[in-house]
Amino acid sequence: MEKIFYILLIFLLLLSNLYTLNKYMKYKLRIKIIRKNKQIYKLPKCNFSEIDDIFAEMHTPLHISSSIISFIGKGDEMVEICDTSSWVLSVLSKKSFNIFEFGTYRGKTTYLMAKNSSKDTKIITITLPKNQIDTYKFEEGDNPKETENAINESLYESFSYISNLEEKKIEQIYQDSKLFDESKYLDYFDLVFIDGSHTYSYVSSDTEKSLKMIKKGGIIIWNNYIEDSDVFKYLNHIKKEKNINLKQIPNTALVFYKH
Ligand SMILES: C[S@@+](CC[C@H](N)C(=O)[O-])C[C@H]1O[C@@H](n2cnc3c(N)ncnc32)[C@H](O)[C@@H]1O
Repeated sequence: MEKIFYILLIFLLLLSNLYTLNKYMKYKLRIKIIRKNKQIYKLPKCNFSEIDDIFAEMHTPLHISSSIISFIGKGDEMVEICDTSSWVLSVLSKKSFNIFEFGTYRGKTTYLMAKNSSKDTKIITITLPKNQIDTYKFEEGDNPKETENAINESLYESFSYISNLEEKKIEQIYQDSKLFDESKYLDYFDLVFIDGSHTYSYVSSDTEKSLKMIKKGGIIIWNNYIEDSDVFKYLNHIKKEKNINLKQIPNTALVFYKH
């Protein structure tokens, strides 16, 4: 009788251990799934030489020659791109003959691209002037804060490049970018910089236009690839949908695509 009791006890203990182990394994699996779902997808980072050969010599002792540029620092200006971004765009503009920019703001990047490019380079830059704010087209799903920023940044009607020698290289367009007709410029630009309204519907519209306007071998650059922003969401989305080769540029909020 005593023997049966001990066998039963051992059996019950074993059963209880199995039950606890099962619960523990299920718990571990749940945590693993939660962690996996929380992982945020990010575009891969590139080496600078992947953007263009002009950066290839950065890793050699002679690296300075092709990356020397005329420069204006960012200082404490909040809206403008960081100094590394300005440098990347200035270096690329050295070998770009036709450039398009979405979003002029004070025109600093426009000026830098004009200053650092060849004498025959032409730059078109589009911006929303204060007196056309009512043409801005908000769409459902657009981040309200980004919409507010886009409208608040639409202040300037005079720009850094004005009265400089480089001014003649620049064509300024005052228009909402959704209204811009890209059909005159198919396969035309060597470099397109997308830095207008950072809301989902505008980044999407500006990107669709840019993909038509960029010529073979040309480069599109987006600004504001910051976690949780609309640019972040949109670029992650098209990377999957269109399977295009988008990469982050290190130490910046820029993403590039080589056509
Ligand atoms: C982030 S700032 C551009 C900064 C500039 N690219 C630079 O590097 O200094 C955004 C610019 O986009 C313009 N913008 C905002 N919404 C726009 C729209 N719907 N169409 C055209 N430009 C727009 C704003 O007027 C502002 O000049």
